[in-house]
Amino acid sequence: MRTSKPYARLTKILITVLIVVFSILIAGGFLIFKNEAPRPAKIVNTNGNTLVSHKTLLSGQAVYERYGLTDYGTYLGNGSYLGPDYTAQALHVYLKGMHRYYAQTKYHKAWGDLSDLQQEGIKGVVKKEIKVNRYSQKADTLTLSPAQAAGFTYLQRYYRREFINNPRQAGLPENMIKNNTGAYMVRGNKVDQLSSFFFWGAWMASTNRPGQNFSYTNNWPYDLDAGNTMPAEAMIWTAISVAILVAGVGVIIWVQRRYNFDMEFAYGKNKPPRIDPDLPISDSQRKTGKFFLLVMVLFLVQILLGELMAHYYVENSFFGIPLQNIWPFNLAKTWHLQLVIFWVATAWLATGIYVVPRIRGREPKHQGALVNTLFYGLLVVVAGSMLGEWGDILGFVKKGWWLIGHFGWEYLEMGKAWQWLFIVAMLLWIVILMRGFIPAIRHKGEAGTSTDRTRLTTLLFLGAIAIPAFYLASLFILPNSHVTFADYWRWWIVHLWVEGIFESFAVILIGWLMVDMKLTTSKSTIRALYFQLTLLLGAGVVGMGHHYWWQGDHNIWLSLGACFSALEVIPLCLLIWEAWTHYKVYKESQLEFPYKGTFMFLAATGIWNAIGAGALGFLINAPAINYFEHGTQWTSAHAHGSMAGVYGMFSIAIMLYTLRNISKKEIWTAKLEKWLKRACWLLNIGLAGMTFITLMPVGTLQLKDALTNGYWHARLLSFYHGSTVATLLWLRIIPDLIFTAGVVVLLVVVYKIVRNLKPAQNKAMADSHQEWDQN
Ligand code: HEM
Ligand code: HEM
Ligand SMILES: [Fe+2]
Repeated sequence: MRTSKPYARLTKILITVLIVVFSILIAGGFLIFKNEAPRPAKIVNTNGNTLVSHKTLLSGQAVYERYGLTDYGTYLGNGSYLGPDYTAQALHVYLKGMHRYYAQTKYHKAWGDLSDLQQEGIKGVVKKEIKVNRYSQKADTLTLSPAQAAGFTYLQRYYRREFINNPRQAGLPENMIKNNTGAYMVRGNKVDQLSSFFFWGAWMASTNRPGQNFSYTNNWPYDLDAGNTMPAEAMIWTAISVAILVAGVGVIIWVQRRYNFDMEFAYGKNKPPRIDPDLPISDSQRKTGKFFLLVMVLFLVQILLGELMAHYYVENSFFGIPLQNIWPFNLAKTWHLQLVIFWVATAWLATGIYVVPRIRGREPKHQGALVNTLFYGLLVVVAGSMLGEWGDILGFVKKGWWLIGHFGWEYLEMGKAWQWLFIVAMLLWIVILMRGFIPAIRHKGEAGTSTDRTRLTTLLFLGAIAIPAFYLASLFILPNSHVTFADYWRWWIVHLWVEGIFESFAVILIGWLMVDMKLTTSKSTIRALYFQLTLLLGAGVVGMGHHYWWQGDHNIWLSLGACFSALEVIPLCLLIWEAWTHYKVYKESQLEFPYKGTFMFLAATGIWNAIGAGALGFLINAPAINYFEHGTQWTSAHAHGSMAGVYGMFSIAIMLYTLRNISKKEIWTAKLEKWLKRACWLLNIGLAGMTFITLMPVGTLQLKDALTNGYWHARLLSFYHGSTVATLLWLRIIPDLIFTAGVVVLLVVVYKIVRNLKPAQNKAMADSHQEWDQN
């Protein structure tokens, strides 16, 4: 028995780092909440007539949420990129309205009839006029100047044209927005209420914060007519962030070498690892088979929806069929995102379930029944939430839209009731895990149980608990929450939960599996894990600030977000080395190595970590570029390179690992391995093609357009319909089909494997794992 505490120092460092970074994140959150743009009790004109009441404004937000417009267009640059950015567009149209007002009142002429000098003169006046903050805190009233009020009316007329009787919106049904009144909504014209919400966004993007010379959104979006230009701080912190990255790389390389944080191989060159994947399995382990079949079906549906969306980019309907009436773009996008979360999560839940009896050394009682409950519960959440969203967008769900329909925020599309159910399902998963992990951790220090093994198990368990724990942040958001407040918490899900917590769980799981397969030594693996976790979370938690620059947050986030997020790249690039390690295992393991498929996909994961997450993430990360790039196709390139490249490939890797263990040896023929290899190539070539042949070039042209004409312009449908861009968007059909072929091959392979599972033998499984802990 070992009593020393070999990891005490590393633990202390990790915990201290966690306390520091979460304190910054939470303190910075309070600063954000305290400095949110006001949502006035009323917006009035100079005569004191109310143009927009508080209730109307909130109702407009509810309309935006209820019809899933976050999945058709963006608000403050967040959402989907086919539709316009409603903030930038509203700002520009409102300016136009003001220009026309002055053309009439000053010169009694139409805007187009004015001379250049007159037009430029008016533009100059308007630019100054919109910057003045006319909100009175005492009266909780925003008073619009006559020109601003005229701009507002002009904006309302504009959106009536866009949303009523007009199929100009590609991929949306005509007259989608109904005048029904649901929760959080007041009576009145819903399109007008929506315009009020858009107007308020334009107001906060263009009006200076009290006592400052920049707007609530740090001058985002770029629009010269509004006088919105990049704040100086964005450029300064960009330069500093790059310097910090360079210094950080130096320091981290030194630390890694000096203290040797590499995983060391546990097998020699001519002594390949002896792994036996053909041990008996238990009932609950066998039951994970159907989870993986579900994973593949959801995956296939998800990408088919991606292709439908890609088609709406080039044509308003689907090859002439008016599919948008029953399957609009916003629904396809909603499901595309929800399905990623569902299939990735399902693959992880299933792998976790598989690991439990291995950790415990036997099957916990009634584990199979719990696992089945989780499976059917998941099915209910997936099917229920998707049906709810569909009914909501098409207008069938009248009451309780935010509970069972579309919740209205990107990545948090499922109704609140479904979010709760999803949390319950994840808690059930934790219960399933606890039944193996807790007894294993309790054995700490007993004879035959190594400290290292317990440590690894504890880390894995903590990583697992963090998954439901961090999803709880979604519960802070309600349909009437302030946009900036909602956005703060939303990124806890998108950035922290998906990037930070998933990534942490992933590295721990890989570490655990490497040791379990006796590929790396436990000591070196645990040290490497501490090192990676400290880096990942030390940079990534406050790094979330790269999403807090233009959403009405406090401007301290420009510095915090820029500096910390630059460091996020380092641990991801180090994973290239790990990818090499995985490739070496694959290469050196000769014919009898059972996990070739897994290691192929792990190597792909490592490469996409460095390229899709690291390089493409950094490309759009510095504030000076993100100011123009935010919400364009470069973001989509990064999103696919990281979500599909990292989490997609990783989920497939762990799926193949578990499948290999629970299926019969005979099924793993050389032919099947060959098909797996083909699937891997198809998926990676397809993804690389999608990212580098379509999304990156289109994003480059879009960025140029934003820099030349203003951000609003680069987000118009006309941009996508320009000849070069349209050609690129049509061309993506090739890589998209290659990717699809990869998914279909994988689906067939998984189906074949799941039809050939080993029988459940609880007792035999327990006997064979007696020696599990003997390292
Ligand atoms: C053939 C395969 C695929 C196609 C054609 C495709 C297409 C698309 C399209 C058109 C969008 C909407 C962009 C927008 O207008 O906002 C999108 C968004 C997205 N897709 Fe895919 N997709 C595919 C596969 C995947 C996979 C496998 C994943 C993840 C595992 C994924 C994750 C995402 C994410 C996270 C977004 C949101 C991006 C953002 O808002 O920045 N996609 N996809
Ligand atoms: C595995 C790790 C990562 C994943 C899964 C990931 C995923 C994503 C996704 C899905 C989005 C799109 C969000 C949206 O729809 O608006 C996004 C945005 C973004 N990511 Fe990452 N990311 C990762 C790592 C990184 C890294 C390392 C950086 C840079 C240091 C980075 C920088 C950014 C930035 C700046 C945006 C915002 C883009 C915008 O303003 O439109 N990400 N990421
Ligand atoms: Fe992020």
